[in-house]
Amino acid sequence: MSGGLSGVPGFEQLSHIPLYVPGKPIQEVQRELGLAHIVKLASNENPWGPTEAVKARVAAVVAGTEFEGLGLYPVSDGFYLRQRIAQRKQLPVEQVVLGNGSTEILEMIAKAAFLDGGSAVIPKHSFAMYGIATQTAGGRVIESRASATELDVEDILRSVAADTRLVYLAHPNNPTGIRIEGSALRHLVRHLREDIVLVVDQAYAEYEEPGDYPDAAALLGERPNLLVLHTFSKIHALAGLRIGYGLGSPELLSLLERVRSPFNTNHLAQAAAEVALQDVAFEAFCRQKNAEARTAFLLEAAQHRCKVTGASGNFLLMETAFPAPDLFKELLQRGVIVRPMHGYGLPNHLRVTLGRPEDMQTFWSAVTPLLDGGC
Ligand SMILES: Cc1ncc(COP(=O)(O)O)c(C=O)c1O
Repeated sequence: MSGGLSGVPGFEQLSHIPLYVPGKPIQEVQRELGLAHIVKLASNENPWGPTEAVKARVAAVVAGTEFEGLGLYPVSDGFYLRQRIAQRKQLPVEQVVLGNGSTEILEMIAKAAFLDGGSAVIPKHSFAMYGIATQTAGGRVIESRASATELDVEDILRSVAADTRLVYLAHPNNPTGIRIEGSALRHLVRHLREDIVLVVDQAYAEYEEPGDYPDAAALLGERPNLLVLHTFSKIHALAGLRIGYGLGSPELLSLLERVRSPFNTNHLAQAAAEVALQDVAFEAFCRQKNAEARTAFLLEAAQHRCKVTGASGNFLLMETAFPAPDLFKELLQRGVIVRPMHGYGLPNHLRVTLGRPEDMQTFWSAVTPLLDGGC
């Protein structure tokens, strides 16, 4: 490292940890390329919300008629929102923790687990923040085997080391859009060493058909060291407010409380999430629209002979003959932001968020001439 920081112990190590690369913001592309109309299909956001009811509640908080205004600190542990989540999940409120996005809870558990070192097992092609949270907390990453089409639970169990403290598993996984079967999930919950915390990240669970999805929360009674994560960023359409939640045993969550920043979730996010959580009709609408967009995408992809991976989540992984960063840049020039997946060990894959029909049309119009007759 250069400059005055180079002598600080630990900074050298920090400089080797990968940076999280977010989807490019619309304003940035407008500024850089001078384009007026941009379609963003890069961050698995929900194109349908938030609802008018959510916006009205946020406006009330801003106006100071709710939560006594923005000049006061929020409820530090978000008790009232936790209470609503607990009701919906049929759990005691002590089994719910909030985070500034579920990403903050990923960091909280890493901070707690790696206080004196240790390792995390993370399947290949997983959400980048698992590795980053592990390493910035002083932990070591052990990568278990997985392909773009299959998660290997046996290899997760085999990969565990003597110093392993955490296993992260996205269910469904981002960016591959695959989820494990209920039997595999139960096998993992029951056979993973008891002193390891299993983090099951269910950020996209609400896009699954209820009744057809093996919810890890159903296994909380079987394993005190299980943390199930959800977010309001996806189907609840609140990515901009940063709020997510974790479900776990009272013992585990009381320890997490020691690493949670006071007031970590703000007034606006708590209020908006309370309203969003009650709107099951909006959830069902988004789930239906997402399923329609997936079917349409698969049809279009088949016409272009594009190999598409993933049957879950609000995104698809598309394999092409071209290096993903090149295709990404070409699409950017045409006003379409997607996500190249080379940083996830998938050099020829683009991840495309399922947007509104008109946005998907813009995507296909932009990508078709670039595909040279087919993927
Ligand atoms: C698997 C997975 N977990 C967590 C997150 C982060 O969600 P949040 O916005 O709640 O931090 C994402 C975001 O894309 C994700 O894909």
